[in-house]
Amino acid sequence: MEFGKKILCIGAGYVGGPTMAMIAYKCPQYRVTVVDINPTRIAQWNSDDLPIYEPGLEEIVKASRGKNLFFSTDIEGGIKEAEIIFVSVNTPTKTFGSGMGMASDLQYWDKTAKQIRQFAESDKIIVEKSTLPVKTALAMERILTATNNGVHFEVLSNPEFLAEGTGIKDLEDPDRVLIGSRETTSGLKARNSLVEVYANWVPQDRIITSNIWSSELSKLVANAFLAQRISSINSISALCEKTDADITEVARAVGMDSRLGNKFLNASVGFGGSCFKKDILNLVYLCRHYGLEEVADYWQGVVTINEYQKERVITNMLGAMFNTLAGKRICLFGFAFKANTGDTRESPAVTISKRLIEEKAELVITDPKALDNAKMDLNNIDGKISYVEDPYEASDGCDAIAVMTEWEAYKNLDFEMIYRSMPKPAFIFDGRNILDHKRLFDIGFNIFPIGKPPLTHFK
Ligand code: UDX
Ligand code: UDX
Repeated sequence: MEFGKKILCIGAGYVGGPTMAMIAYKCPQYRVTVVDINPTRIAQWNSDDLPIYEPGLEEIVKASRGKNLFFSTDIEGGIKEAEIIFVSVNTPTKTFGSGMGMASDLQYWDKTAKQIRQFAESDKIIVEKSTLPVKTALAMERILTATNNGVHFEVLSNPEFLAEGTGIKDLEDPDRVLIGSRETTSGLKARNSLVEVYANWVPQDRIITSNIWSSELSKLVANAFLAQRISSINSISALCEKTDADITEVARAVGMDSRLGNKFLNASVGFGGSCFKKDILNLVYLCRHYGLEEVADYWQGVVTINEYQKERVITNMLGAMFNTLAGKRICLFGFAFKANTGDTRESPAVTISKRLIEEKAELVITDPKALDNAKMDLNNIDGKISYVEDPYEASDGCDAIAVMTEWEAYKNLDFEMIYRSMPKPAFIFDGRNILDHKRLFDIGFNIFPIGKPPLTHFK
């Protein structure tokens, strides 16, 4: 069969894999190939056990794999064949040299651009899928054209806004698809070609176009605004705890203002995930680079409050449990950075676990999807940590339960049974405010939510 478009994606991660699976699923007339330097990852994509857990992903991969969706390690062949190349390699925060701890590490990006230039024999549209510092497309263009091999490259920016756990729904029914290009004849032509791809299933009014720098910057800004909302509500949760106000009631009252909206106002143990912190630090770095110190300080505050919130969890636990956690068994309910994913990157549970171990507590960690990643994250930590899949078994004999992730399953556990299996006084720290606090209090637990008055049996 002759395919309408040949699409390649370099980088088979959380973004590249699901996004390409959706394109292949919605566009059977295109041939979609995903390549990666990591052969294990590719083998997993080709197996029954996909490398990432995302509700609905398996179904769409299985529907297209082997027909018009292919996972391969043949980067060279993939580049030669494709007309449109998405680049979705990771761009973590730099851990060395200038900009360490702030700027994006663009080494994989740079290497990938050079690979594309080396193997390309015909004109290509290159699509930035990874989140990048604004103006990266310029660097990409300079690398691609440095040897003048007669091939024309047109660089587009098409940031991905999917959130983990709802990734498939977000891809299938996105709020918007953003495509940025150069506003030249060839830039606009390439942009139209990518619009055509999405128009197979996304309504035209949700496919928006812009200049390439706006597109690159919009992704950083969208993540910064989302994270800012969480830091805003978390900062107020601290004030609620001092004043007997209730953060859920405050969030409800504030969120009913239609100008503000009611989403993303859940106080928590802090935000995690691979994007928010990385992207804000990147934004801060860019602002400092351009001499905008006040703007940089403003956004830095979002990260500072997030670190403060995680530390507050420890302070509250210490305060509640008579100023010592040494030798106490604490059961963490959830380790993933949010529900419905096994991803633990930047999960608040990682920092909180490390702090609890510093306080000489013993940890029992339970999570329906993230235990393998949790083991890797805490691999080098010297302390008593066990990993137990069953939450009843995990909490058995523990002094406290601390909810780290808002897994639905935790709401419906038999807490009477759990209470009986724990030494007294028994504590629950609900870091996501998902449990029925009054009912748990009536069972006998001492309850410490986030941003609400505690419910304790102490006189
Ligand atoms: C990545 C970026 O981290 C993020 O900035 C961006 O928003 C989207 O793409 P993610 O998909 O979550 O996010 O990253 P990850 O799961 O680490 O996947 C990246 C993949 O690229 C890995 O499988 C890695 O092996 C691969 N890769 C990396 C290459 O194929 N070539 C390289 O040179 C480097
Ligand atoms: C985010 C953006 O939402 C997405 O658009 C972008 O493409 C990638 O980054 P993701 O990190 O997968 O997605 O998850 P998200 O749902 O945004 O949650 C991020 C963190 O914020 C999680 O730790 C979550 O638990 C936390 N959060 C979210 C809160 O603490 N309170 C809330 O009200 C919402």
